[in-house]
Amino acid sequence: VENIKIGMLGLGTVGRGVYRIITGNGENIKRKIGAGLEIKKILVRDLNRDRGVELDQQLLTGEINDIMEDPEIKIVIEVMGGIEPTLDFVQQALQNGKSVVTANKDMIAVYGKQLFELAEANRADLLFEASVAGGIPIIRPLKQCLAANRINQVIGIINGTTNYMLTKMTKEGSDFAEVLREAQDKGYAEANPASDIEGYDAARKLAILASIAFNSRVVLDDVYTEGITKITATDISYAGELNYTVKLLGIAKETEEGVEVRVHPTLIPVDHPLAAVNDVFNAIFVSGDAVGDTMFYGRGAGELPTASAVVSDAMDAARDLLRNVPGIISCTCYDEKPVKDMGL
Ligand code: NDP
Ligand code: HSE
Repeated sequence: VENIKIGMLGLGTVGRGVYRIITGNGENIKRKIGAGLEIKKILVRDLNRDRGVELDQQLLTGEINDIMEDPEIKIVIEVMGGIEPTLDFVQQALQNGKSVVTANKDMIAVYGKQLFELAEANRADLLFEASVAGGIPIIRPLKQCLAANRINQVIGIINGTTNYMLTKMTKEGSDFAEVLREAQDKGYAEANPASDIEGYDAARKLAILASIAFNSRVVLDDVYTEGITKITATDISYAGELNYTVKLLGIAKETEEGVEVRVHPTLIPVDHPLAAVNDVFNAIFVSGDAVGDTMFYGRGAGELPTASAVVSDAMDAARDLLRNVPGIISCTCYDEKPVKDMGL
């Protein structure tokens, strides 16, 4: 069987991890899916920048049509982020019948519904496991493994940057600006880190999780959002004296008035399991009527953990292509359930 050809959009933190896994674990991937994955082209802005990986420079391009108009490229991995021009590129890829794997919560949290419909209409997969909680499997478990349940609530720490910052501020009394810089240096933060510290990144992820969990349509604007910019090391130290720790939580519940979605700093008793989720780790509690409580835990950001989810999605898209069934499982069907008015 011939290798399945991939076009990548972006080769930054996550893209580098994807490149490393596909080139480094090639034999393992081939054994698991029955064909190799081969990166044919990578779109970047700067063709000359040092990428921190050994790479054939011929793979890089600044021209999107080198990917969109290449019929050999069957899967597009979008790890460039943002909405403009990314949404347009993703739409073009789907319209050209290419399956898309993305880590982009900004795009899925707002344009998910249109994109799923476009994917389905063009018999292409649209997979986005990496868009929530980095390397932690949570999208597929919610969509598939827990599908039999009526989900009551989803509660979690879903932003690695702010959890890293709050952990350092709690344990070392570190300064806000200094720990934000550290999180950026480690590749955890968004291109614009205001998304992390003001809670919008967590709000986007919560919108995605709530949409799937409650088979509803929750978008970024529905989420009450408060970040950690007003939290100081002194607040955290007072909380500690009362046996509490401060965490930025995303909370989604189905209530009688509709789906309730909110992100805000929360005081958690130090003996609560979420209090022990530190550094870049994320954790998500999901409770269902049949399964009871479940918890998903792992690294919520960073190069290889995030790339783990991206490449696993690409392998799923490749399996679907090999079986000639792309576009069948990626479809997410939403009811239009009401979303509770949070007075925004
Ligand atoms: P980076 O900023 O590190 O990388 C972005 C890449 O995209 C760069 O290679 C850049 O090119 C390229 N790029 C950006 N805009 C354009 C454009 N207009 N045309 C061509 N190329 C472009 O981002 P990350 O890797 O950190 O994040 C990528 C995506 O993954 C985002 O959606 C992010 O939200 C998501 N994500 C990130 C995680 C993380 O831990 N970092 C975790 C989970 C999801 P160049 O290098 O030439 O500048
Ligand atoms: N900036 C995000 C975070 C990346 O810190 O969680 C992972 O989505």
